[in-house]
Amino acid sequence: MRIVATTPFDGQKPGTSGLRKKVKVFAQPHYLENFVQAVFDTLGPVPAGAVLVVGGDGRYHNRTAIQTILKMAAAHGFSRALVGQGGILSTPAASCIIRKYQAFGGLILSASHNPGGPEEDFGIKYNAGNGGPAPEALTDAVYARTRSLTEYRLVDAPDVDLDTLGETQVDGLTVQVIDPVADYADLMESLFDFAAIRSLIAGGFRLRFDAMHAVTGPYAREILEKRLGAPAGTVINGMPLEDFGGGHPDPNLVYAEELVAEMFGANAPDFGAASDGDGDRNMVLGRNFFVTPSDSLAVLAANATLCPAYARGIAGVARSMPTSGAADRVAARLGVPCFETPTGWKFFGNLLDAGKVTLCGEESFGTGSDHVREKDGLWAVLMWLNVLASRKDSVEAIVRHHWAEYGRNYYSRHDYEGVDSDAANGLMAHLRAAAPGLAGTVLRGYTVALCDDFAYTDPVDGSVSTAQGIRVLFTDGSRVVFRLSGTGTSGATLRLYVERYEADATRHDQPTQEALADLIALADDVAGIVARTGRDAPTVIT
Ligand code: G6P
Ligand code: ZN
Repeated sequence: MRIVATTPFDGQKPGTSGLRKKVKVFAQPHYLENFVQAVFDTLGPVPAGAVLVVGGDGRYHNRTAIQTILKMAAAHGFSRALVGQGGILSTPAASCIIRKYQAFGGLILSASHNPGGPEEDFGIKYNAGNGGPAPEALTDAVYARTRSLTEYRLVDAPDVDLDTLGETQVDGLTVQVIDPVADYADLMESLFDFAAIRSLIAGGFRLRFDAMHAVTGPYAREILEKRLGAPAGTVINGMPLEDFGGGHPDPNLVYAEELVAEMFGANAPDFGAASDGDGDRNMVLGRNFFVTPSDSLAVLAANATLCPAYARGIAGVARSMPTSGAADRVAARLGVPCFETPTGWKFFGNLLDAGKVTLCGEESFGTGSDHVREKDGLWAVLMWLNVLASRKDSVEAIVRHHWAEYGRNYYSRHDYEGVDSDAANGLMAHLRAAAPGLAGTVLRGYTVALCDDFAYTDPVDGSVSTAQGIRVLFTDGSRVVFRLSGTGTSGATLRLYVERYEADATRHDQPTQEALADLIALADDVAGIVARTGRDAPTVIT
């Protein structure tokens, strides 16, 4: 074992979902090592036989980072490392494998939906033995450790062949290169009615899945094309590439343009979906029809019992605060609780572990359940396919029926990316100061019921998370929410979330931006977005 002297780096504070920086930052000598050592130091000595799962979304720097991590894991006393072949493990597959093999934890290498390549982003996060992202107490402790460490430890050993299945000894650590897909595909097959989906597809139902040259290609090919019998070519952009083919692997209407063009074009398939860099996000489309992530959660909750794994009903639902209230209405009808958490999948972990909720979702194209402790892109696709196979209706018809039954939550998110950090912080500080005085005032005809900075008390462990976003709630149930993204890597990203509830089914056909126009204008009145950021329009609207 070798002990290497080091000094702390600034800014190794994990964000919403781990530490994300430019590859150039990660590639600096000692940078990754410092962070991994801080994680290991925080975990403390691991028990005999401890297993570490390691894998990533295949982006540039993935393989280099894995080799370093394996040498450090050996030095820290792990007995076994399970590594996806080629260094590949989607985030939900990593969660599945941690749980299935009762690993001590896992290190997942990804910057999710951020672009990859030498000039782009890299990331790392630690998931605990429940398969979920480390809770804030742990990530705070890791950050504190990055501020004080003076050395890291690794063994001197040759690099491991990551492409060949099997075991290699690395100075006391057994590195096992595993099939990254099989365990995950088996889990999916245990949750959903594959026979029904297979006959739906055999009956001529057409689907398209865009893997965006990111990690889900091999997973989608195995599940959709092999196990479910969809024709070859159903999965497009299915080869994981280190730079995602130069694309931005974020499944939304802007970045999944190839899929969107097909789904809104002539002769569109019945169902289209895409996933992100590391496979945990999803976008679901019908023919000429976009399902918002908030609606998707609500529809899946309302139809969950059609799927074998959820046939006995769901315990409850959780959504992040900025996610629309559509799921709340379903939960109320089902007589189960609905929890409102801060943004970040880690906040669902305790609720899932305690059995308080079965389904979770976020407006940021994340949906999942208690089958793993991450959101799960292909899982959402399969749940939709199971519902479609069972209801024998189109995506659009299912969503429209849902609105007719529950009312429609018009919803949109406006992102202002790469804004000057001081301007963004100034805007939030201004809102925070204004918040207490807003209640009771009337803005463009909307009466403010409450304005606060969202805080969350975890009902399981009592931990409190403050300053999670400014909400302006109106008396008619509409709201606007402002927060700064915790996942960006350059400047600040301001997110504005706008929602309006419409019960009247004759008014469910308005274009979303039109339906929300007053609230969008009002948001600028309150926050001074244009004046403070110098931007007269958002960079992305979803
Ligand atoms: C990641 C996290 C999600 C989060 C999303 C947006 O995907 O896993 O939990 O909702 O990023 O986060 P942000 O802080 O950028 O709004
Ligand atoms: Zn992701």
